Amino acid sequence: MRAMPIQSLFPTRIYTAPLQSGDWRTLNKQLLRECQQLQMDDETGQRWSKSNYPGGYTSYHSAHRMQQVSPTFGRLERLIDRHVKSFVNALELDMTGRELAMTDCWVNIMPQQVAHSMHLHPLSTISGTYYVQTPKGCAGLKFEDPRLERFMASPPRRADAKAENQSWSVVPAEAGKLVLFESWLRHEVTANPVTAERISISFNYNWF
Ligand code: NI
Repeated sequence: MRAMPIQSLFPTRIYTAPLQSGDWRTLNKQLLRECQQLQMDDETGQRWSKSNYPGGYTSYHSAHRMQQVSPTFGRLERLIDRHVKSFVNALELDMTGRELAMTDCWVNIMPQQVAHSMHLHPLSTISGTYYVQTPKGCAGLKFEDPRLERFMASPPRRADAKAENQSWSVVPAEAGKLVLFESWLRHEVTANPVTAERISISFNYNWF
């Protein structure tokens, strides 16, 4: 069979991997405790979440440098750093004389029916999420084709089209796993359909 005379250019890359090969459950237990404690203590965040994250809790506005506050989150940062390096290598970003560093790291707690609508992460280079608690059936991370606004007179994709040709794609949320993407890529978490809380830690890296 002859190969199709088509090349793929300008790919959108999404990195998913287990955070560590060893025992991730011990770290997750500690992170879970701290996420829940933060939710209880952080009154500013509770107030902010009420109008900006209805039904759920996020420390995005109030406690968004958790890597500098908690040694447990600091440990998480060091583990994530390694993955970000690999991702940057795969993207072939030229980081000569510059470095990427974690600027923000915050907690998201989504009870049933809570959603996080389409957004991107301005003023950042690489963003991502680490999953702490993912009840069976909870929503994944939905990414949107960044070229959508240019799709003039474009027919819809076939329902059975390959993942790379679909207009959006969902990466499942799985405790102990990490997802990285370039910060300009729009994404959302659809309403959590299950009763148990979906708990994740999101973060941004910027270059300096
Ligand atoms: Ni996000």
